[in-house]
Amino acid sequence: MDLLINNGTIVTAESIFKADIAVKFGKITAIGSSLQPSKETKVTDARGKLVLPGAIDAHTHLAMPFGGTISADDYFAGTRAAACGGTTTVFDFVLQDFGENMVDAVKRRDAICAPDAAVDYSFHIGVKDVSGDLLDSIADSVRYGVPSFKVFMVYDFGVTDGVFYKVLAKAKSCGALIAVHAENNEMVNTLVEKYISEGKTDPWHHYMSRPEFVEGEADERAIQWAKSLNVSLYIVHLANKQGLDAVTKARDEGYPIFAETCPQYLHFTKDVYKRPDGRNFVCSPPIKGKESQDALWDGINRGDISTVATDHCPFQSYEKYWGKDDFRKIPNGCMGVENMYPYMLSEANKGRITLNKAVELCSTNVAKIFGCAPQKGLLQPGSDADIVIYDPKKEFTITQEAMHSDVDHTIWEGTKLKGYPVETYSRGKLVYKDGEFLGNRGDGKFVKCKPIKLTRPSL
Ligand code: URP
Ligand code: ZN
Ligand code: ZN
Repeated sequence: MDLLINNGTIVTAESIFKADIAVKFGKITAIGSSLQPSKETKVTDARGKLVLPGAIDAHTHLAMPFGGTISADDYFAGTRAAACGGTTTVFDFVLQDFGENMVDAVKRRDAICAPDAAVDYSFHIGVKDVSGDLLDSIADSVRYGVPSFKVFMVYDFGVTDGVFYKVLAKAKSCGALIAVHAENNEMVNTLVEKYISEGKTDPWHHYMSRPEFVEGEADERAIQWAKSLNVSLYIVHLANKQGLDAVTKARDEGYPIFAETCPQYLHFTKDVYKRPDGRNFVCSPPIKGKESQDALWDGINRGDISTVATDHCPFQSYEKYWGKDDFRKIPNGCMGVENMYPYMLSEANKGRITLNKAVELCSTNVAKIFGCAPQKGLLQPGSDADIVIYDPKKEFTITQEAMHSDVDHTIWEGTKLKGYPVETYSRGKLVYKDGEFLGNRGDGKFVKCKPIKLTRPSL
């Protein structure tokens, strides 16, 4: 064996138990008691520590052209930060170009990602154009190993309800999973126009232009289309109670509807938009009020929110400052790839959710939903040795200086965490230890995913 992690307490989505983990050639080979190392084995003592599957961030935007610029973390910086926060796989968004075949879009992006990624990665495709043969290229992409797609109901490249419906129908026939960014574009545009014409240009009016009902109505509409086809649907970055209620109702009726939320919606409320640095929190959908936040935590504990992901899409301070006099000019997006697992585990450590739930939300369910289990998201023989050793007693305060991304600020500045990852292994290789990144640019591998068949809301 190459690596033995012994004396630790293993936490999976289902159970917690004391055991050793043996690793060879990047795979877990055994989990048991008193496993014996050979002469060459590197032994790590995890006594007093928790041993967890590496997190899988289902939602990142690395080096993405957006908002008149490019998001600030490239594939190296973003995956370096991921490793240092216990995330060993990221699903990044490829934005299809108009006229571009889905597989070509993935290959175009992979050519930039592969030389840079420090942990494993996969892709979802942001769909812009399904004219002509392009709709069929969804099935080609499923066969290629990228079976997940996102449609946007907003932004200048958002799709119509008709296109959304066509994409859902195609997904049903070929094992793809459609994710949706749900906000009502007409309402956003109308409210933006109103506030700008009234001279209300501060970040608070970013929130006011996209309040709870703007997202909630779009969630309900998206769920309606998916229900009418009885096809699965994954709602990304869900931030509001109305939409969550619709998810819960659909799941109770037996429909395979899945929701993802993000740490920024679980920790902050819309009040951040009144802060002097409110522009740094501008993302879409915006962070909502306390009622929605409480509902999201309830949805997690009830099992109606299946995953937590970051929507990591950071911009530098000077770029956020472009919107000083006009919230429309603030590039939309926040950072979080290094903070998700530490934050969710800290909340578990403080008793808000169970540790199993944190693992389920941030790792196991992501792998199951997006078709990369059992390779990823599980601690079991045969799975990749993507492992985090977590010290539940370590006190940690988030500061920009302690982070490993290329961004010059963090919305998480000053947040106190109970417990923190101390070691991260990517396929058995130590890539992070005690605050230091130890991985390499280009070591990350493309994870090809299987076609997705989610027929009941089992996750
Ligand atoms: O504000 C956000 N969320 N920026 C990233 C793009 C998206 O909609 O996910
Ligand atoms: Zn989105
Ligand atoms: Zn996003």
